[in-house]
Amino acid sequence: MPLLSSLFDAPSRWAALDPVAGFAKDVADRLLPGGAVRGLLHGRPAGHPLHPAMAQLPIGTSVSALLLDAASVLLPGGRALDLPARGLAAVSVASVAPTALAGWADYVDLHPDQQRTAIVHAAGNAVAAALWTASLFSRRHGRLLRTAGTSVAGAAGALGGHLAYRWAAGANHAEHLVHLAGDGQEFSDLGPLDDLAEGRPQQRWIGDAPLCVLRRGGEVMALTDTCTHLGASLHEGEVKGTGPRTTITCPWHGSEFRFADGDVLDGPATAPQPTVETKVSAGRVLARVVGPPL
Ligand code: FES
Repeated sequence: MPLLSSLFDAPSRWAALDPVAGFAKDVADRLLPGGAVRGLLHGRPAGHPLHPAMAQLPIGTSVSALLLDAASVLLPGGRALDLPARGLAAVSVASVAPTALAGWADYVDLHPDQQRTAIVHAAGNAVAAALWTASLFSRRHGRLLRTAGTSVAGAAGALGGHLAYRWAAGANHAEHLVHLAGDGQEFSDLGPLDDLAEGRPQQRWIGDAPLCVLRRGGEVMALTDTCTHLGASLHEGEVKGTGPRTTITCPWHGSEFRFADGDVLDGPATAPQPTVETKVSAGRVLARVVGPPL
């Protein structure tokens, strides 16, 4: 395995971090608001996590400060750039708390190995924020402190990227199902209507794509079965509501999806669930995945 990848993978195996990880989860569960505010922190209105988008601000301003610091050393009269560099560092410091809050909201519902990596990522960013803050008060070592802070933030940010892409924290875990199911080109036969138990979600398949199928009398509704959040099987979840308001709640972290349009109503998922069009013909259930709701 490439050296850098092994290095970034290592924190996921550090079980010694578990007490800290558990404490951070408990505190977040108690302190962070629920409902719509929590949904906002997750990034639900955007359909993807908010935290990585917010991280652009502290990273961008601190790198800009670093460039100004370099220019202040290299250019004649560069001392005048110290004040704007300090201002950018102040913006970095100010943006850390809201960025961390969004990350913390996502952190709560990650798997334990992902949480260990997230703890190291957060610790690195806390050190970076402390160095940036110290740089605001030190005339002599401001540049040095800003450089050190941005270097630590760079490493922590790279670990965050590894967590997002290598460990798929925050990725949509259901997007591929649309393609596995044939991009909604044709209806597939899911079998006789009578084989579906009344009111109990069950798993059926279109090709290699699992579906969560619910029968209510002569009607059938369905969603793709792999939760967009972290991939749990939705058919093991709880059904609520009736008619177009019927929802299913994921058994792992409680994301609630509406059958009618796949919309996320609650929980940590940000991407809507790919929807499934169904019909009953000659006593058989036909379905096709029509894709993520637009
Ligand atoms: S896997 Fe986390 S809410 Fe479904």
